[in-house]
Amino acid sequence: MNNNSGMNTFDDIEIRRPELAISYLGFLKAQPGRPIALFAPRRVGKTYFLDGDLTPAAEKMGFLPVYADLWLHRASPLEAINQALEESLDDVYVPKSNIGKLGKTQVTKIGALGASLELGGVPARRDLPEKPELRMDSLIARLAADSRKPILLMLGEIQSLGHFSGGEAAIATLRAVLQKHKKKVFAVFTGSSQEALGEMMMSAGGPMYQFAQLLTFPFLETEFLERLARHYTQVHPSKTLEINGLKKVFAHIGFKPALMKDIVKAMSAEGITDVDVALTHYINDERNFLAWQSVFNGLQPLEQAVLIILAHAIAPMSKDTVAVLAKIPTVKATLAKIRAALDRMRKAGILSNPPKIGYMIEDRLFRDYIAKTYMPNYISYNL
Ligand SMILES: Nc1ncnc2c1ncn2[C@@H]1O[C@H](COP(=O)(O)OP(=O)(O)OP(=O)(O)O)[C@@H](O)[C@H]1O
Ligand SMILES: [Mg+2]
Repeated sequence: MNNNSGMNTFDDIEIRRPELAISYLGFLKAQPGRPIALFAPRRVGKTYFLDGDLTPAAEKMGFLPVYADLWLHRASPLEAINQALEESLDDVYVPKSNIGKLGKTQVTKIGALGASLELGGVPARRDLPEKPELRMDSLIARLAADSRKPILLMLGEIQSLGHFSGGEAAIATLRAVLQKHKKKVFAVFTGSSQEALGEMMMSAGGPMYQFAQLLTFPFLETEFLERLARHYTQVHPSKTLEINGLKKVFAHIGFKPALMKDIVKAMSAEGITDVDVALTHYINDERNFLAWQSVFNGLQPLEQAVLIILAHAIAPMSKDTVAVLAKIPTVKATLAKIRAALDRMRKAGILSNPPKIGYMIEDRLFRDYIAKTYMPNYISYNL
């Protein structure tokens, strides 16, 4: 899969990380009952890894992987988990492939187990508890027993548990169930908001405290950039891309592989090799700036002001900043209002707030665009 002959576009470039997957599975096996939580900013490849590396590695090691995205059912995360477990249970009874399905159905008929059985041989003991907490408990026990495999429960967007009122209780349940079935289920959490995940894990007294092992999910390395450069040269045989330049841009954009591909694709389309020129073109590309501008336009004046301030690396909550923003009639800022605006934009995914760094604009190219388009004095004159 990694040879170049079958690779026709930049989009076909994929970096697989089987060793990383194996090392995570090793961590899990070494500490039964203790989940791992993978820390990483947005769009750096967490889901891609769970799907393309961890799942197959887990299957090879004899686990039954089950994935649930908690964001999809924010209001009822336990039900999201239960649904994933139930689907998996259905797959155990009625394998997905047609051949498996036929086989199972025939076995049922031959066994003549009675008319009460449904097609596919879903067994009669169907009375799972209704209450989501108890149901999860039963589902895990049943799935592990019937599949005869330990379960690898992968929970994506786990930080959404921290965002609603029932979250604490859900975490407590999850913790209790994982502890109880520690021989049967291993869990991996990922979250798209680094600081929310951290907050959730660290909040002292919270049930997650010292429960999960926090690990930093590593960014893609130079190999990814080398593959992009190699493909560029295949398209433009007389040209090469400087790896150091690519490294600089990759770091600048926050190690987001899909965005990096887009930038190199644009470079290829224009035949340019200078990454600084490429970045400028990217920011000036109408398709990008119209999207950024519409995000900006959708914000309230105070939020716009705060965004401009952050883009210019000015401290948003300093005395001077508050004083300036307080004087603007449409804004009339106070420290509390600024803090609320920062928090709203963090929740909306526009800002992040990594520990020790503070609030920053999540998408660095969006930041560059705002910095280039709106000078700080725009705030005083136009808002
Ligand atoms: N190993 C990889 N090789 C090639 N491309 C990758 C790789 N990992 C991620 N990508 C690209 O980056 C995109 C974003 O990855 P992914 O959705 O996994 O990020 P994420 O960290 O889960 O993001 P979010 O925080 O938004 O959930 C993918 O759709 C893919 O195009
Ligand atoms: Mg994801």
